[in-house]
Amino acid sequence: MDKKKILITGAAGFIGSHVARLFVNKYPEYEIYNLDKLTYAGNLENLKDIDNNSNYKFILGDIVDSVFVTNLFREHNFDGVIHLAAESHVDRSIENPMDFIMTNIVGTVNLLNAAREIWKDDNKDKRFYHVSTDEVYGSLGMEGFFYEDTPYDPHSPYSASKASSDHLVRAYHDTYGMPIIISNCSNNYGPNQFPEKLIPLFINNIRNNKSLPVYGKGENIRDWLYVKDHAVAIDVIYHGGKIGDTFNIGGHNEWTNIDLIRVICKVMDKKLGRVNGSSEELITFVTDRAGHDLRYAIDSQKLQNELGWKPSLQFEEGIEITVDWYINNQEWLDNVTSGKYQKYYDKMYGNR
Ligand code: NAD
Ligand code: DAU
Repeated sequence: MDKKKILITGAAGFIGSHVARLFVNKYPEYEIYNLDKLTYAGNLENLKDIDNNSNYKFILGDIVDSVFVTNLFREHNFDGVIHLAAESHVDRSIENPMDFIMTNIVGTVNLLNAAREIWKDDNKDKRFYHVSTDEVYGSLGMEGFFYEDTPYDPHSPYSASKASSDHLVRAYHDTYGMPIIISNCSNNYGPNQFPEKLIPLFINNIRNNKSLPVYGKGENIRDWLYVKDHAVAIDVIYHGGKIGDTFNIGGHNEWTNIDLIRVICKVMDKKLGRVNGSSEELITFVTDRAGHDLRYAIDSQKLQNELGWKPSLQFEEGIEITVDWYINNQEWLDNVTSGKYQKYYDKMYGNR
């Protein structure tokens, strides 16, 4: 029997690389294709341990290019899509919304159109899994949680572009019978996250004795989930979720930014052998992010009840593992911050 072909978009990025590794290692009966444009956030070094596996292939390409995407689907006739490719950083979306509109909205529609065409005669066993964010639900006060039926209320160009893509994915299900599944996840942390996001940025800055820019008063609250737990949730939902359904994924692990930053400082002082309290001296309060959402908190009870998923790691354990990873992979940090890796991979993968 032919192997099932699964396209994972954005698998050179942070979460996508953990999803691709899980699928390549767990499912030798699948052929996993990683379609990635290798933007600043995409780094094939994240996947070097599976690069030579016979059931893994990298495809360099842009989901915004509809002709390329259509031809790719015609050539490979994928059985499933797990769509993670996106512009993902809120601050960048405030600086330059257009990249977010193109990749997150137009790119998603290009994938939907291509899947619709190749699955038009029979989509019974197919799946288009769209990976989304809790930011589509907007901002909570100090009480309550986001549920799967919480109305959308995005505030940043990033979250508005993700909300738009979610609506389009659901519209393709309702209008064309596209076999879709969506999940909305809270903030991820762990190895391989680009050091522009809070946790790796602050680890890297502490390492280099640079200031830690805390937006506003540091009172905003995020619900943190270890990235490998998100990857497991995606596996569970891809295989067990009902077509047309939505699942929230979260860690039940809320922290104000300032408390979280103090934990990072403490762990870093210990790991680097510095005097306890010295990293905290780097904390600098700066102008708040425009439209800064106060609080995110996910209720993931549906996923736990229906598919038996729950986070495997306590935060204290996850943050230790994460800090260790960045300290042991300083070359990775230096490469992604210097841009050197891009030249390296042009050379290595330019002709693939
Ligand atoms: P990331 O920025 O680390 O990686 C994104 C990947 O997409 C990169 O490899 C990049 O090269 C690729 N990409 C970007 N534009 C592309 C294009 N036009 N064509 C092809 N590839 C392109 O992102 P991440 O943090 O791993 O997030 C992955 C997905 O998960 C996103 O859809 C994001 O919205 C969602 N998500 C992220 C979080 C989080 O905390 N990071 C939480 C919930 C949901
Ligand atoms: O909730 C899921 C979302 O989490 C994902 O959809 C996004 O892709 C991901 O980037 C993340 O968004 P946030 O904006 O919550 O993450 P970020 O790491 O940028 O910021 C976390 C919090 O820390 C937020 O309240 C802003 C604050 N912050 C961030 C940075 C980069 C600072 O105070 N200083 C900083 O320098």
